[in-house]
Amino acid sequence: MMRSVIRSVPFRGIYNTNSATISSSKSLGGLVPVAEAHKLGNPFKNMLASIKRNTRLMSTAAVEASSAPVEIFRKDYLAPANFVTEVSMDFDIEEGKTVVKSDLVVRKNADSKNDKGDLLLDGDSSSVTLLSARLDGGEPLVEGVDYELGDQSMVIFEKALPKSDTFTLSTEVSIVPEDNTQLSGFYKSGPMYCSQCEAEGFRRITYYPDRPDNMATFKSVKITADKAKYPVLLSNGNLVKPTEDVGGGKHSATWSDPFPKPSYLFAIVVGDLGSISDSFTTSSGRKVHLEIFSEKENVDKLDYAMESLKNSMKWDEDKFGLEYDLDIYNVVAVNDFNMGAMENKGLNVFNTAYVLADQKTASDGDYERVEGVIGHEYFHNWTGNRVTCRDWFQLTLKEGLTVFRDQEFSGDLGSKDVTRIENVRGLRGRQFAEDSGPMSHPIRPESYIAMDNFYTATVYSKGAEVIRMYQTLLTPKGFRKGMDLYFERHDGSAVTCDDFRAAMADANDVNLDQFEKWYLQNGTPTLSYSSSFDASTSTFTITLSQSSPTNPSNEPFHIPVSFGIIDSSSGEELLPTEVLELKEESATFTFKLSNVAGKPVPSILRGFSAPVKLINENVDEATSQLQTLAAYDTDGFNRWEAGQKIFSTAIFAELAEKCDSTILDAVFATFQQSLSSDKLGDDSIRAYNLMLPTEGSLAEDLETIEPVKLREARGTIKKLVAKEFKPQFQSLYEKLTDEMKGVPFAVDSMSIGKRRLRNVCLDFITTTVNRSDEDEVLANAKVAHSHYHAANTMTDKLAAMSILSSVYGCAEAEALRDEVLAHFFEEAAGDALVVNKWFSVQASSTKPDVLDDVKRLMEHPEFNIKNPNRCRALVSVFTANSAAFHAEDGSGYDFITNVINTLDPLNPQVASRMCGSLIQHKRYDAGRGKMMVEKLKLIKEFDGLSPDSFEVVSRGLK
Ligand code: BES
Ligand code: ZN
Repeated sequence: MMRSVIRSVPFRGIYNTNSATISSSKSLGGLVPVAEAHKLGNPFKNMLASIKRNTRLMSTAAVEASSAPVEIFRKDYLAPANFVTEVSMDFDIEEGKTVVKSDLVVRKNADSKNDKGDLLLDGDSSSVTLLSARLDGGEPLVEGVDYELGDQSMVIFEKALPKSDTFTLSTEVSIVPEDNTQLSGFYKSGPMYCSQCEAEGFRRITYYPDRPDNMATFKSVKITADKAKYPVLLSNGNLVKPTEDVGGGKHSATWSDPFPKPSYLFAIVVGDLGSISDSFTTSSGRKVHLEIFSEKENVDKLDYAMESLKNSMKWDEDKFGLEYDLDIYNVVAVNDFNMGAMENKGLNVFNTAYVLADQKTASDGDYERVEGVIGHEYFHNWTGNRVTCRDWFQLTLKEGLTVFRDQEFSGDLGSKDVTRIENVRGLRGRQFAEDSGPMSHPIRPESYIAMDNFYTATVYSKGAEVIRMYQTLLTPKGFRKGMDLYFERHDGSAVTCDDFRAAMADANDVNLDQFEKWYLQNGTPTLSYSSSFDASTSTFTITLSQSSPTNPSNEPFHIPVSFGIIDSSSGEELLPTEVLELKEESATFTFKLSNVAGKPVPSILRGFSAPVKLINENVDEATSQLQTLAAYDTDGFNRWEAGQKIFSTAIFAELAEKCDSTILDAVFATFQQSLSSDKLGDDSIRAYNLMLPTEGSLAEDLETIEPVKLREARGTIKKLVAKEFKPQFQSLYEKLTDEMKGVPFAVDSMSIGKRRLRNVCLDFITTTVNRSDEDEVLANAKVAHSHYHAANTMTDKLAAMSILSSVYGCAEAEALRDEVLAHFFEEAAGDALVVNKWFSVQASSTKPDVLDDVKRLMEHPEFNIKNPNRCRALVSVFTANSAAFHAEDGSGYDFITNVINTLDPLNPQVASRMCGSLIQHKRYDAGRGKMMVEKLKLIKEFDGLSPDSFEVVSRGLK
């Protein structure tokens, strides 16, 4: 990615989070705007204090004795002895205490293989206090006699249960949402209360069989709260009893959800909210009321989400014949949220970052994400809610499938090739790394300690690739048949990945047994190919071979390889796309070609038809083949891919100090072609064709990562390109500036493409070739500075500010940098999402003292470690700034360890993700690796370390 980190946000959902900016500059000076510097106070003081107190350090033995986290295995699945089938709840919300009453209708499960008939309820005793429990309205049950309470459970003994097949358990508990910093369960965010129950948050609200195979009808959810402070009362389903006064300044409302659901889809929101509403008429003619809520000052930023919602509803009808089922679809924007968004039935809850958007505050990337995430959560209504997961090991059943669906949606509404390129960049940048490190797991994991740790790039992004492979193998029509059968068989139930695969196989009458390997085996397979052409018989032969270098015991996968052939001299396509199926370790395919003018060049893995690493064994021809593909391939993805490979080859050669003119000529020729011809795709595609591969994806192909050297090598190639093509970049920049003049703001593909391409030009134009040339540094800063001040979109402002944030070494240029940062902050006027960008840009600077800036920013009055977005905007973005985070002196590792120490007790979910920044130690040189391991050991000994962080750190130490 070019410098605009900002094209990605602090938190890009699970399968695609932030990536650091990439550029070649180094720096000197302070970066906090002068106007702000005095407010920041003593760098890092709060966190240092918490370390000094050292209250969280104790011996390993003691930790193990007190908290031995439990590992849960897929193979141990057992259906429960009892199901809850119907639920009525009553929330009485008072400041500092919420009382939750529940009536659970319980039915004994005749099919259970569980020999004990005890009623097992989950409940997190750190959140829930039991006030009373009764069966069928009888006397209160007695602890120790009728039931037993554990840390995480309540067991009602079989002997205490009524003899009938169904009975009612009534409980009363209290919870304190105001103290809930974990943001799981019921908690307070600014002026509102809201809930997050996936994966295991419902047990922080009340005692319940909190497992996805328990589907129940939530017949009645009554909410009572202060009327003036909390006028809006929402839950799932339909409003059956509108808001009415109940005395004492309170009011209440009752909701009912007719669709049986697991507890993780439960939601409740209570607050003083504004909203916009609209409606959608389904294909069968039902009118659905749509409403999106947010804090009042943000109501004017909800229109794009509403448009996206209506587009999603239409798309799912057109593409999959799936209609919405309730009369109401509510969405609420919440500022404190661990994840991106949540698909609660009829009441989605969204992180503000994925729902608010307007011209002033949102970049093009933000708009794209709002559309994608709104689509994603909407699509879950069928893939996740109507058909859900039997257990959490099956998570990819709903997430992989729904990510695939949101990707297809975005591709259909925008540009297919651009969407595909972006998705594959995401997959390679994160999932490939995960799959080669200690957190590597199959898309259907075999075990976990904290389920929240398994909302991973693998389950999501690789999971989506696995679904895409079904479509590639079965064709879109066959895939649709499989989807139809899946819903026909399983609507209203909780099922497994095997059920999905069976529906695909049965609907198409094919055998997909071997395909299960994608669910069973981890690691990224390597696909090697070698090809030859016999001119005398005009026969083209290609041999495909697969292996799993990181998991040698893997058995062969069933891999769809989309394949075509291009003529190197005519540029014609000699063979249009065919899908080759590789099931063995190795297989050879031959093709009779006609009209061959030059050399036939294979175009393999078109559209990235499988999540593998591709290796061309015809090493000598590799570069010339890539040049043919970059120029002529009919597959947009592979045309881009060919360019990327040419650029990577040059960067790796530079890294090995072996970059010669042959490879540089290929780089230049590729740039020349993209700059001079607009025939190779729209402006977005051209922009992507002109971007060098990210540091992250380059790192994936290196045995040992040396982040600083890698950044330098990439920077060197970038400078050479910038120098060679300065006039072309300049004139393209000017041409685009002219074209954009006076055109009203829009977020369609064409406008996005123009901005993207112009900002890529800006990035090259402002690449400083010689750092010690102050005139050059200043001239470039001036270009970025005027780009910033001329900008009327967030995208353009961020592009310019991001470049400026790395400026150093020339006082006058630094003044421009500081002025822009100060201006941006001021103009943000406290808008949380804009302020997040301000933090992120600074955290991804390539200045050598960026860590000092980050530490100062931790003390900024606007920094708040408890807000996940803010925390990620600064801390996670810094950890993704790889050359800085992996500084040779270990300062980045010290920093993150301190942050984890503070954050883990407050919010284990967010903290455990930060532990992920230390676990790839085997990929780094010995010095760095050793320091990372030391930090992991230290964290493992933190007193009271959460199971979430414990799991990641333990895996990292294995
Ligand atoms: N079901 C998840 C939200 C979730 C994730 C809840 C983890 C609890 C734990 C939701 O559908 C989801 O996947 N959200 C993504 C964004 C999406 C576009 C991939 C997220 O939150 O990042
Ligand atoms: Zn999802």
